Order: sequence, then C-alpha cells, then structure tokens
Amino acid sequence: MRYLLLVLAILVSQSIYASDSVKVKKLKRGKDVDTVKVATPPPPPPAPLFTDIIPQPLSLVKGEGRFTLDDSSAIICEKGFEKAANYLRLYLPIERTKGKKSNSIQLQLDKKLGKEEYSLSVGEKGIIIRGGDYGGVFNAIQSLLQLLPHAIYSKSATLPMELSYIEVKDAPQYHYRGFLLDVARTFQPVHEVKLVLDYMAFCKLNKLHFHLVDNPAWRIEIKKYPHFAEQGGFRGGDAKLHPIYDRFRQKYGGYYTQEELRDIVAYAAERNIEVIPEIDMPGHSKALGAVHPEILCNYKPDLSAYNGIDIRNVWCAAKESNYALVEDIVKELVDIFPSEYLHIGGDEVSFKQWMLCPDCQRLMKEKGLKDGHQLEQHFLNRVSDILAKYNRKAVVWDEAVDGGLLPTTTMVTGWRGVKQCLNSTAKGYPTIIMPSSVFYLDKRQSPHERGHRSTRGLSLKTICDFSFENAGFTAEQRKNIAGIEGAFWGEIYLENITSKRHFSDYLEYMLFPRLFAVSEIAWGQKRRSFDEMNAVLRSSFYHKLHRMSATFRLESPTIKVEKGKIYASVDDGSKIFFTDIRNNRTLEYKSPLSAHSVPFVTFHSELMTGYSNSVGAPDFYKSRTPKVSITSSMPFSKRRPAELCATYQKAAYTTRCAKKGDWIEFRFAEPQKFSYLKVRSGYEHLHRCVMYDSSLEVSYDGVSFTRIATTRNGEFVVRPNNKTKNKAIHALRIVANRISDAEDKVIIQPLVIK
Ligand code: ACM
Ligand code: ZN
Repeated sequence: MRYLLLVLAILVSQSIYASDSVKVKKLKRGKDVDTVKVATPPPPPPAPLFTDIIPQPLSLVKGEGRFTLDDSSAIICEKGFEKAANYLRLYLPIERTKGKKSNSIQLQLDKKLGKEEYSLSVGEKGIIIRGGDYGGVFNAIQSLLQLLPHAIYSKSATLPMELSYIEVKDAPQYHYRGFLLDVARTFQPVHEVKLVLDYMAFCKLNKLHFHLVDNPAWRIEIKKYPHFAEQGGFRGGDAKLHPIYDRFRQKYGGYYTQEELRDIVAYAAERNIEVIPEIDMPGHSKALGAVHPEILCNYKPDLSAYNGIDIRNVWCAAKESNYALVEDIVKELVDIFPSEYLHIGGDEVSFKQWMLCPDCQRLMKEKGLKDGHQLEQHFLNRVSDILAKYNRKAVVWDEAVDGGLLPTTTMVTGWRGVKQCLNSTAKGYPTIIMPSSVFYLDKRQSPHERGHRSTRGLSLKTICDFSFENAGFTAEQRKNIAGIEGAFWGEIYLENITSKRHFSDYLEYMLFPRLFAVSEIAWGQKRRSFDEMNAVLRSSFYHKLHRMSATFRLESPTIKVEKGKIYASVDDGSKIFFTDIRNNRTLEYKSPLSAHSVPFVTFHSELMTGYSNSVGAPDFYKSRTPKVSITSSMPFSKRRPAELCATYQKAAYTTRCAKKGDWIEFRFAEPQKFSYLKVRSGYEHLHRCVMYDSSLEVSYDGVSFTRIATTRNGEFVVRPNNKTKNKAIHALRIVANRISDAEDKVIIQPLVIK
C-alpha cells in the first residue's frame, strides 16, 4: 500500500511538472538566444506524519492540519523546565527561547494535573505541553519526539519539520517503571549507562535499578574503603580476583568513581529517571568477601573442589563490625543517590555458610531465630534500620520476605515467579512485579538463539500477552503493585560483545523491541496486542531505532522444507541471508536451496540496523548420535554422571573444577567421519563451569593424540579440511591448559556431530 501511494505521488508530481512550465532565458553556444520552455522543479511530496506513541497514551485525537517547526520557532519554557527544554534541544535545532507562540513549543506547569501526567496539544496555537510536574513535561517531550520525523533521533535533523495536529492526554498507571542494569557482572562505562538511560527515557521508564555489586565485582568507589572498588572491580591478569567469563590474560572490569556516579544521577534526573543503587547483601558478595574477608563467617571452608579459592559469598550475620561497615557504606551512598529507596538485595543467600559459623549459630539461639530465612531477615532488618537513620527505605528481593519478619514498609522486587509476586502483594508489601519468565530481558528470545537459558524463549509476544488479571492478581493484591521492572543481567554480556558491531550491539538486540512491551505494561491502562505492536514497529519504530543506530532484533525468517527444497521467507521486508556452517560462508538468499543442505545451513535477515537470529529447518538442530563413552581425570557427580552426556541426553557434571592437565575424553565405539563437530564445556548458553583455556586433541588411531585447536571459552567447533575430511576419528579429548575458574564443577555438553 505504501508503495502504491508512492507511485501515485510520483505520477501526480510528474503531471504538475508537465503543466507548470515557464519561460526562462537560456544561454546557448555562448549566445543569448530566445527563451525556451523549461519546467520548474516539482514540490517535494508531503512528508509522512506520525501519530503512534509507545507506550500507548490514554487518549490521542488526531486533528486536521500540519504544524511546521522552522527557523523562527522557539522553545518557550516556564521556570523549572529549563533542563527539559535543553533536553529537547538535543534533538531539535531550536535555540530561540522567545518567539511567536503559535509557531513555538511551550513547556508549562499545570497544577491540576497529577504526578507525571501531561497534555500535549499541536494546533494553530502552537505546540503546548502542560505537565503536572517535571516528569509530566518530560513525558510529553518524549511523545512529541515520537510524533516528529524519525530523523530527529539521529540528532542531526534540520528544520523545517512537520507534524500532525494532535491532542494527547496521558498519565502513567504506575509511578515505578523500572529497568535493572547489572553492571556488576559486565562493567559498562559511563557513556553506555547513559545510553541505557536514553533508551529508558524513550520508553518513559523512570527508575534505574542500578545493580552495582554482586559476586563478580564491587563497582562503587567507597572513599573509606578504596580497596573495595580498586581490587574488587577488576578480574584476570594481575588483578586479585580470579577471572571468569572468558577473559584470562587481560585484566578487565572497572568501577565508578563517586564523581561519575553523581554525573549519572544528574543525567538520569534530567530524563525523569531516579537511580536506585543496589548493594546486594548478605549473599552475592563473593567479590567483596575476596577483597575484604573480614565480612565472612568464622570458619575455615573446604576448598578442595575450588582449586584452593575461597568462594564464600555471604556476610556473617553475627559480626557487629559488619553492621558498622554497612553504615559506613550507606553514609557514602546517600550522599550520592538522593533516591527514597536503596536496594539491599536479599536474594539467593546460602544459609549453609551461616549454619557452619559458630557465631551465627550462637546468634540464632540467642534471638530465637528458627532458620536461615529468619536469620536473613534479622540481617536485613538491621540494615533497614541503618537506612532509616539516613531517611531511606529498603527494597529487597522476594526471598527476603519468605520468613515473615520484615515490616511492610519494605518494598519487594518479585523476581522468581508470578507466585512470589502474588505472595508478596497478598502479604501487603508494595511489590515491583518482575517475574523472570516475563521481565528478564537477558533471556533468549527463542529456543535457538543467544541469551540466557529460557526453555521456550522470552519473546516479544510473551511480554505483550502478560496481564495482571491472567496472572491471578486480585483487586486487593493489585493495590500493592508498586510497578514493574525489566532487567538486563550481565552474565553473558561480555562474551557477546563483538567487534563487528558497536559495543552496545548485544544489549540493544536484547532490549528492542521487548522494552517497548515492558513500557506498555508499566505505563498503561491501554496496551497494544502483539499484532498491534508489530504493526507500529514496522510502520515507524524500527525506523526510529535505526536513526538511533540501535541494533534491534527482527523476527527470524520462516523456514520450510518442501519437495526437495528449503524455502526461507520474511514478512517485514527484510533481506534474507544464509550461512553454511561447514565453511562459515554467508550469502544473500535469492532462491530456494537444495534440501540436502538442511543439516548445514542457517538463515537470518537484516533490515536497517536490525537483524534476526540465525535459524535452520527443524532437522538442522538434530545431530547424529554415534555410540561414545566418556572418561575424565575428574570424578563425575552421581546426579549428573558421564552416561547422561554419552547418551546425548543431558550435560554431565564433574565434582570439582579443572586444574592444569585435567582432561575429558570421548571415545567412539566406531571411528567417525563428520562434516561438523561441536564440543562444549560449560552451560549451554552461559560460559560458566567451563574448561577455560583448553586444547582439543583428536586421535585417528585410538592411541596417539594430536592437538588441533585451543579455546578460551570452553567451546570447539571443528570443520574438517581437505586433508582431514576422509579421516575417521577414534577419540577426542579436551585438556585443561591452566587452572579453571573457581566454580565447584566442570560441565560437559553432549557432542553435536553432523
Ligand atoms: C536474581 O535474579 N537473583 C534477583
Ligand atoms: Zn557467621
């Protein structure tokens, strides 16, 4: 339809060209000659106008007419909105602060409107934005930007620009519309945190849950304890902390100085975003425990499974010095972060460490605490009391309210599932709804793509389909919903940063378009269905993301195998490519391929800065299952024995991590030739419990082994060359070249063999 309109526009413009010609003087062969007929250039076709806003506003009425912003336009703002006006100027080249109102953008306070509520009117009287507060004006600005030509998102668009007359009245349903950024697992430099804040602002999200510390790192400068960040912010190389996630030799990581954090807080505030820092306690504290062992419990751990590395990660609940330390930290934090709440963690605490600690045991007896849950709540209550001293309240993860001792002034982040969110709201806790199955945007989006494990995939449709009613919240429970939050955890971020695209490639692929659906749940009484969301993505929001250079995700091509051919198709106008995994070559798909290629080809699509996951036909994911036996220098666990892996059912687990020289061997009952072989240690989608820095050796005679590859991330892909393609392999083995990461096991996945 769009193309039909374009053709019509060209035909119309050509007829204007023909009829509107005028006489002008023309120079011919150096002489003045008679006037000849020449055409005036055609007026450009009218620019398309946009009326879609994400998240869907409460009320939007399109008017008849076009408004033009031009060189004489001004941004006229009431006192208090200067920062909002300057924000708008990042996108619009309008420097004037005074001018004719009917030609300008006015930013005004309207006390009749509520918190973050706004109206936006575009018409003969100009562009008038009224907000109940700064947030309201800022939200209106986001809506206005979405109504302007997509090019404004490149921040280099020029005037004049047009938009449709329109009346928008809008307000959020929830005042907590959050996004969690886990910079503890993968450090993100300040400019990238700011990019995330920009994306949040674009989606009208207003709380950055800043996950600053966790097992892998401590990322906040604490002036009184500089070693927390200086040592706890880095891993690998000559750092004190052993490396994880694929980087051995080079030191990597980082931390934020207090000055940088203040800069982030200010940048966020200009975008109507409050930064809520999280100090995850008393668990998830491996990095802090390693650089400041004083926080740990009073017993000598058994380090035999961990190559001698102490992996304890829980603050001792019985040490008074720990509470003094918390107060020192809180004192510095409240000076940086003005937020009403501070997140203090409380998830996944290993009670085992407390059970082994004589001091914690004594405390439990003394206070009559009957289990680990209650001891955790004792700890968190003490931390909450410290926060209260500084006029702050606590947010905790949902496990923390399992024991029933925390006061209902505590806010809860419900992450484990809908059940825990129902439980928390039923108990009267203000609850941020973020069940991981719907809101963890680091989860993969379909079963066969990168991203954290998710059996069915956490698709855009999953989020669009989520509803509080279907999830079982009663009217009473809904009163306790504080808001919702999307999350981006950083476990596999580091390994997915490629030099091919820019640094934030993976982040953007995981966020867009899913963050739009999250924002609609957070914002609205009105929400788009999956089909409606797809329609606005294709008609305009993919273009906006493209202008931001955001590498968004497209739906994968549909693959069909019929009558000896593989067909790939898309319905979004993107280009399709196919890759042969035997030689890793990618070509544009122009016509169906032979079905013989099914086990070896994947397809993906590209459109502007967007691209899709690579997918194969269903049989692509099958591999042969030749009889094989597995042995190792490391013992296998009883629960996950080698047979599970040898019979291609599941990964097998060893009972300790690898030291230099440790090996795992696969021996085939019959020697095997193959076109493609993948050997992988670690989780299927997560480089943990991996034989890092290892070699792959193969045996063509069953006795002697030849090293054919080394890896730093535990995965080998072997594609035979001309010399080796006719040679059958009797056995292969992975050999560790150095001590592995300090986890309690190595995981070995079934072979993928084609
Ligand atoms: C969490 O995912 N452990 C909050
Ligand atoms: Zn203890």
